[in-house]
Amino acid sequence: LTRFPLIPVRGVPLMSHIAENFDSIWAFRPDPSDLLIATYPKAGTTWTQEIVDLLLHNGDADACKRAPTPVRSPFLEIYGPPPIPSGLDLLKTMDPPRFIKTHLPFQLVPPGFWENKCKTIYVARNARDNLVSYYFFDCMNMTQPEPGPWPEYVQKFMRGELSWGSWYDHVKGYWREKDNKNILYLFYEDMKENPRREVERIMRYLDVSVSDEVISKIVELTSFEKMKDNPMANYSCIPAPVFDHSKSSFMRKGKVGDWKNHFTPQQQKMFEDDYKEQMKDVDIPFRNLI
Ligand code: A3P
Repeated sequence: LTRFPLIPVRGVPLMSHIAENFDSIWAFRPDPSDLLIATYPKAGTTWTQEIVDLLLHNGDADACKRAPTPVRSPFLEIYGPPPIPSGLDLLKTMDPPRFIKTHLPFQLVPPGFWENKCKTIYVARNARDNLVSYYFFDCMNMTQPEPGPWPEYVQKFMRGELSWGSWYDHVKGYWREKDNKNILYLFYEDMKENPRREVERIMRYLDVSVSDEVISKIVELTSFEKMKDNPMANYSCIPAPVFDHSKSSFMRKGKVGDWKNHFTPQQQKMFEDDYKEQMKDVDIPFRNLI
């Protein structure tokens, strides 16, 4: 198994297996009933997938387990390697409504999603925690490019050189389009602060209705502790050599503010100055930045 090199697609670095298949991904036609869950990697994708799956199955975890994929929903742009199934192949085997995961930045999402007015949930996580989480993920995911030493990784994040491109462009791209395209824009920090409130927000957006009791059950089942032990969420279905769970677990810490354990004061200062510059054209209400 080799780590995939990055190849730019319209200026966005993507792993080669995605870049080489990009035309087929771009041509994908979703059904108007399909739901898209979009994130920059490590922003809380799996957590949101778990909440959505349970909401759509009235909180019945066993009903969710009958879903056809090991990790909740097809990953639109993924083309392997085995045992990770190709997203487009999986989608062909499923009847709508499906919920589909993507890490593509807004401008690379197949236009069929917007033409068909598909519902879209975007989850954003504060830059520093997102970066730390991505670093540990790149250590354990043997298909992603080598993370290299931490100080260089911070630089690559700031320059938008990691897989799926710039975090700054990603969060801004969906933010600018959210009203236009009826995108539900969520924050990881809000989900940590008040998971019930955010589950209810997702429920209203999906236009489903579950009882208060079921909401409580969903909040419980989607806690970090429960999901850590849930094989449908902790990616134990993807073992070595693809995911080396001995390097870092997929469900690693699940906290807000872990970045403070990893940034030196100098890195923090440099990151903050650069952050202000890169984010000056938009006012996205990220919390817990410092
Ligand atoms: P950490 O590495 O900071 O622990 P994604 O699913 O987008 O890859 O994101 C993974 C990150 O979300 C990991 O962050 C993981 O621990 C965290 N996460 C997953 N489920 C969670 C939950 N139920 N509550 C809090 N954090 C969760």
